[in-house]
Amino acid sequence: MSISLSRFLVEEQREKGHIPPELRLLLEVVARACKSISHAVNKGALGGVLGSAGSENVQGEVQKKLDIIANEVLIEANEWGGHLAAMASEEMESIYLVPNRYPQGEYLLLFDPLDGSSNIDVNVSIGTIFSVLKKPEGNSGVSESDFLQKGESQVAAGYCVYGPQTTLVLTVGDGVNMFTLDREQGSFVLTQEKVQIPVDTKEFAINMSNMRHWDTPVKRYIDECLEGKEGLRGKDFNMRWIASMVADVHRILTRGGVFMYPWDKREPNKPGKLRLMYEANPMSWIVEQAGGASTNGRERILNIQPQALHERVSVILGSKNEVDLVTKYHANNN
Ligand code: AHG
Ligand code: MN
Ligand code: MN
Repeated sequence: MSISLSRFLVEEQREKGHIPPELRLLLEVVARACKSISHAVNKGALGGVLGSAGSENVQGEVQKKLDIIANEVLIEANEWGGHLAAMASEEMESIYLVPNRYPQGEYLLLFDPLDGSSNIDVNVSIGTIFSVLKKPEGNSGVSESDFLQKGESQVAAGYCVYGPQTTLVLTVGDGVNMFTLDREQGSFVLTQEKVQIPVDTKEFAINMSNMRHWDTPVKRYIDECLEGKEGLRGKDFNMRWIASMVADVHRILTRGGVFMYPWDKREPNKPGKLRLMYEANPMSWIVEQAGGASTNGRERILNIQPQALHERVSVILGSKNEVDLVTKYHANNN
């Protein structure tokens, strides 16, 4: 018998006591929003959703129509349920407070509404990434500083990948489970339980066009992979780069691998490209919950104290033994 996401969440709440009812509601609502983003993505040119919106976000990136649509869908779905205090998004400069006309909850929701924007118009997998925190107790109202919690404080994290299938991947700190959208039923169905990332791999994902800008430890690691069987590693490696973090991480969860978006020399003061709160933290927790590892090269990502909402970070994650090796190369380079 198939298990729907709703049933799975009820069991997490009722039998296992892992999640309170408000968090269950929140996750159901996020899943519903992802379903509707998935429909918009599928319509593509027919729905008039492709192309640029002609605006820029706070990070100076050109916004695509779907970046904005997905952001609105997530806000509209989540603002009235009474489970949230506020939201933060890669596409919004400041936090979004739940309007006064709705009850206030105790959770904070953060999201990258549409990850892999450069792939929208070319019909390649894209996704939504989300992270849930609890509002710190004691203070009334909500402010940006309430969001600046370490990744290890997350109470739920997940992503939904819009590819040949629409798959929702979720953790509430009890392992990682995958749900596939059944379009006829209109519901997510549990299709893989307790996902585990193989500790070893022969596959890496990195934007090789940035090679000349990398730091020594990353260059050394990739050089050794490229040497293949004849080199120090004694095995041939394969490379994959989808350029949608959701899709690259999804592959790693499915068959192992290492994903890197490292700091590079072009802009020395910019810690990396990916965003700590919307991309690195949720993905790092999912990867760790599946037996993998995630670091910025020097520190476990989930341990980083965020200083700003839109903070960026260097990311190296995936199969544990490979991530440990890259970490060792960083330590040796000090
Ligand atoms: P976003 O579309 O949310 O801005 O994120 C894009 C990110 C990430 O998904 C991906 O890993 C990376 O940018 C792709 O970078 P390149 O353009 O260097 O390939
Ligand atoms: Mn992104
Ligand atoms: Mn995005």
